[in-house]
Amino acid sequence: MIHDVQGLGVTTSSSQAVEAINQFIDQALTYGCEAEAAVLKAIAADEDCAIANAYAAAHYLGQENWAGQVQAKPHLKKALAGVAQVSRREQLYIRGIHAWGQGQIEQAIGYHVALVQIFPQDLLAVQQAQYHYFYQGDSHGLLQVALTAQPVLCQIPLYYSLLAFGLEQCHQFTQAEELGRQATELRRHNPWAHHAVAHVLDAQGRHSEAVDWMTAHADTWGACNSMLYTHNWWHVALAHLALGDTATVLRLYDSHVWGRAQKHTPKDQVEAIALLLRLDLAGVEVGSRWRSLARPLHLRLAEQALPFQDLHYVYALARAGYPDAARTMIENMVRHGHGLDEPAKTRWLKLAVPAAQGLVAHAQGNWEGAIAHLRPVLPHLYRLGGSHTQQALFRQLYHHAAEQPRRLAMA
Ligand SMILES: [Fe+2]
Repeated sequence: MIHDVQGLGVTTSSSQAVEAINQFIDQALTYGCEAEAAVLKAIAADEDCAIANAYAAAHYLGQENWAGQVQAKPHLKKALAGVAQVSRREQLYIRGIHAWGQGQIEQAIGYHVALVQIFPQDLLAVQQAQYHYFYQGDSHGLLQVALTAQPVLCQIPLYYSLLAFGLEQCHQFTQAEELGRQATELRRHNPWAHHAVAHVLDAQGRHSEAVDWMTAHADTWGACNSMLYTHNWWHVALAHLALGDTATVLRLYDSHVWGRAQKHTPKDQVEAIALLLRLDLAGVEVGSRWRSLARPLHLRLAEQALPFQDLHYVYALARAGYPDAARTMIENMVRHGHGLDEPAKTRWLKLAVPAAQGLVAHAQGNWEGAIAHLRPVLPHLYRLGGSHTQQALFRQLYHHAAEQPRRLAMA
């Protein structure tokens, strides 16, 4: 057994594998674009290394699409094959990733939380638990698991970024901002810390400061994966939008958000949809952008990876003039929901499906339909995940629909 950068034992005799695992840990915590290469390097050095295979599976499952699930399978199989021979920590992590692969999110959370309680320096387990809490709309859990952690010294800046986001999502803004700024002072290339501070500034309406803060660190985002690259620029765009500078928002959409997105990647698609929709609501002429954004979404119709993502896809499809595809997606969401156990079943059938119907109605200018479908579920949509900033879009859509009859009357 060799120890990784977090002081945690890795069941392998290959120091090259552990060296690559250390690179993967850093890449994962900084949302780096070399994460996949690093974990595959670890597996190339020791193909039987169970935890490396579990890391690879986690990386692919995190892509939130079918292709990722297919890529994750052989690595999960390999990790499970070795689970009896590895340490307690590795066992818990492998079981957590396996549960995720099976769609058992509560179980997955349970494994990662148990792991962090015994091995509090394992920041990948913290990050993994936070990921699941995020999509369960559980801000308290997201913060709590970070509070349980105790990182090794060299990991403190990255730990602060995880903790800062948890604090922000629990509205502990002062502490969140302090930690996010401290994390950045300790390690400037810390995009998740920049992001946490951006959330604080957004929540407090400090939009000019948000532009200054984010653009001052944007030069470090070139090494990010496309998800955080586009997401951090999305935050910059939101700040400009709040300041009324829609021309800059449109330019950022074209250059750094959809412009730099991997066009078939779910998170990048969601980002772009959420920004284009806000521009739409602001009355900005967006031209053919809905159409070019929605075209690749036809691959998403039957995936149902996450209800939060599906709500974005279905809106974009309807708004871009693909009503049949939007209808098919909702039918698939219903079918998917019926095949699930509770509480996921309720989340899909009682929340995501009516919300999707409301969003499609809005996209088609059916204000009454939008109001009727959205009103009952609006207070509960946080359970489908997303940050407070992302969730605000659903409320904005509802209020936009509610205002339309009055606007029409005035006209
Ligand atoms: Fe964010």
